[in-house]
Amino acid sequence: MSRAALSVRGLRAGYGRRQVLHDVNLDVQAGEVLALLGRNGAGKSTTLLSIAGFIPDATGTILLHGKPLRGTPHQRARAGTGLVIKGRSLFASLTVAENMTLAGLKPEALLEIFPELQRRLSVKAGQLSGGEQQMVAVARALIRRPRIVLLDELTFGLSPAMSRRVVDAVTTQAKADGIAVLAVEQHIHIAERIATHAAIIGEGTVRLHLRRDEMLKRSDEIEAIYLGRPVDV
Ligand SMILES: Nc1ncnc2c1ncn2[C@@H]1O[C@H](COP(=O)(O)OP(=O)(O)OP(=O)(O)O)[C@@H](O)[C@H]1O
Ligand SMILES: [Mg+2]
Repeated sequence: MSRAALSVRGLRAGYGRRQVLHDVNLDVQAGEVLALLGRNGAGKSTTLLSIAGFIPDATGTILLHGKPLRGTPHQRARAGTGLVIKGRSLFASLTVAENMTLAGLKPEALLEIFPELQRRLSVKAGQLSGGEQQMVAVARALIRRPRIVLLDELTFGLSPAMSRRVVDAVTTQAKADGIAVLAVEQHIHIAERIATHAAIIGEGTVRLHLRRDEMLKRSDEIEAIYLGRPVDV
């Protein structure tokens, strides 16, 4: 257990009196991509936010390469967590280059992951397409070489082609750098493209934990039963 990049045991969290997570357990090894799936409101974002330190009342054990992960979001980021939340992490009125510099990073480092952004460095982040903004946000997290990157709906609002581009770049980079990935994903076909494992959350706990081959074999069942979606759409 302690050799996992990220190990979560008995995580409980909620908002005020409302408990959302009762007992979440999961492990992600370096170089693995764990897709976190579940219905709307199941607690996927709450899981990521708890790990990143944004839910102060969360209890349970979180280990990063065997060491307890505690404290403020800032302390946890310094210990090696990277969090990317949909649509709120860039300064819209600053250029892409300025957003990178503000984060203490060289603008050019972005281009090693997404060379197509070459001509966008001097454009204000607010003027980028949704996909380009996600590219900048996720690249910024990866360039810091976190031990675990927590991705909340990376492909939200993106076209299928843009979704593929972004998730493929992220998983390639994460693999090259040995970064573990915990990715909340709404679309099971995207999860199937990138995940080495899947965890399905419901009723405040991880109800199913599957290796990639099992996930692929059971994808219709996962959609119908665990995600509550008709199979034929
Ligand atoms: N800030 C908050 N205050 C109170 N309740 C919240 C808050 N954020 C989330 N919740 C509630 O906690 C539960 C879990 O929410 P969470 O956002 O973790 O679900 P999710 O699985 O990420 O859902 P989605 O697929 O819609 O993003 C939901 O019932 C939600 O209404
Ligand atoms: Mg969510």
